[in-house]
Amino acid sequence: MTETLLKDEIYQGGHAPGVEPVRGRGGAPAYFSAWDLHAYYGESYVVQGVSFDIREGEILALLGRNGAGKTSTLRSIARLDAPNLTHGEIWLDHKPLHEMKAYQASQNGVALVPEDRRIIPGLTVQQNLQLAQIAPPHGWSVERLYDLFPRLGERKNQEGTTLSGGEQQMLAIARALARDIKLLLLDEPYEGLAPVIVQEIERTLENVKQLGMTTIIVEQNAIAALHLADRAVILDMGEVVFDGAAQEVLDNAELRHEYLAV
Ligand SMILES: Nc1ncnc2c1ncn2[C@@H]1O[C@H](COP(=O)(O)OP(=O)(O)O)[C@@H](O)[C@H]1O
Ligand SMILES: [Mg+2]
Repeated sequence: MTETLLKDEIYQGGHAPGVEPVRGRGGAPAYFSAWDLHAYYGESYVVQGVSFDIREGEILALLGRNGAGKTSTLRSIARLDAPNLTHGEIWLDHKPLHEMKAYQASQNGVALVPEDRRIIPGLTVQQNLQLAQIAPPHGWSVERLYDLFPRLGERKNQEGTTLSGGEQQMLAIARALARDIKLLLLDEPYEGLAPVIVQEIERTLENVKQLGMTTIIVEQNAIAALHLADRAVILDMGEVVFDGAAQEVLDNAELRHEYLAV
């Protein structure tokens, strides 16, 4: 408690001189804030001044058409080398991610589950999870993860890459939670999966949400993401065109039609 108060007092994130700090609603500093991010792939300018903030435990749906800049924004937050973040600040729990390399962002609690899932060939389900815990800080125990993902427990000795697409997605999420993380970044977790499997992963993510994990979910399946999320940010051509309650987007067919094609 004391530590939290102290950290709040010295909070100085998310703003430049003369610019209003990014604040969570209610005036409290945001747990996560991205402020005026600009990023390039070579000459290609793909993230064009993106700002948003997230409160602790909140789920944000980051939406937009194909090519809008969603993956690029997640990669910028995870501090991967490409795209190159040339301007902006990213703060997570009072730490300046924008000053970090990817491995440091990871050590400071950022976990990106990429679209292609990256299950390690030649390792069983259990070994994939154990590998995530080879270095501290550890998150949930493997037993607790099997509790959350019973299918993984049933297949713990099976090679990870032989799982179905939905099971591999579960393994990728479980692997992120095997570390002690503060921000979960999910890039199209439902992509290519049958509706019944999407529902199963949705239920799992509901459980993760109940446990208070701060999350950004990028999805083409906007409706599913909006049902899970508290808030939504819509990107279009590298810029934020909407930031508000997820319910507002569900209620606004015109907005969905214009920017999401659903
Ligand atoms: N590795 C890359 N090199 C060059 N341009 C890229 C690369 N990856 C994506 N882009 C371009 O960046 C823009 C944003 O892409 P991306 O962030 O992947 O969009 P989204 O995830 O919203 O579909 C698109 O115009 C895309 O073609
Ligand atoms: Mg993408």
